[in-house]
Amino acid sequence: MNRKILYIFMLSTVVPGLVLAGMGMMNGPGMMRGGMMNMSMARHQYVMRNGLPSAYSGKRNILKPDTETLSAGKQLFNANCASCHGESGQGDGPAAAGLHPRPANIARFAKMPMASDAYLYWTINEGGAPVGSAMPPFKDMLSDEEISQIMLYLRRM
Ligand code: HEC
Repeated sequence: MNRKILYIFMLSTVVPGLVLAGMGMMNGPGMMRGGMMNMSMARHQYVMRNGLPSAYSGKRNILKPDTETLSAGKQLFNANCASCHGESGQGDGPAAAGLHPRPANIARFAKMPMASDAYLYWTINEGGAPVGSAMPPFKDMLSDEEISQIMLYLRRM
């Protein structure tokens, strides 16, 4: 191999390796399964562009995260959400395979500033229709109180 080709060869293997390693450090261990790559980019972009629908903007969760509420939230999550999002909320439930976009890592997302009460109410009530995903709308399946219970559980999980 002459020197120029060797140089190009090294660049093409070393540089992507470094970029990947850098992303891994940013996201901590497990970035492929549960890291930043697994957030709902389509939804975040939708909200940046359009804001939240007025029916939800400013809506606050008034329930308190006591033991009873959190355990109700956990049961409801396992029954309604874990098939896609996984029991630990990382987006790796049994029904997640083959979905595009993928179910998000909501355990992580729910602790970020962007995950306001209003954002979560909108997402859970209306589901994936606004962003073209497979997430079902829950507004006719769960009561407002049940959705509020799930939201408190999400923030602790
Ligand atoms: C059929 C699979 C499926 C089920 C069941 C499901 N989801 Fe989702 N969910 C998705 C997918 C796919 C996405 C990513 C695309 C999107 O934002 O719609 C998502 C995204 C989300 C987001 C947005 C995350 C972000 O980064 O903005 C939240 C919050 C969420 N789901 C909560 C829930 C909750 C709570 C339940 C149960 C009440 C639930 N989901 C049930 C598939 C599902």
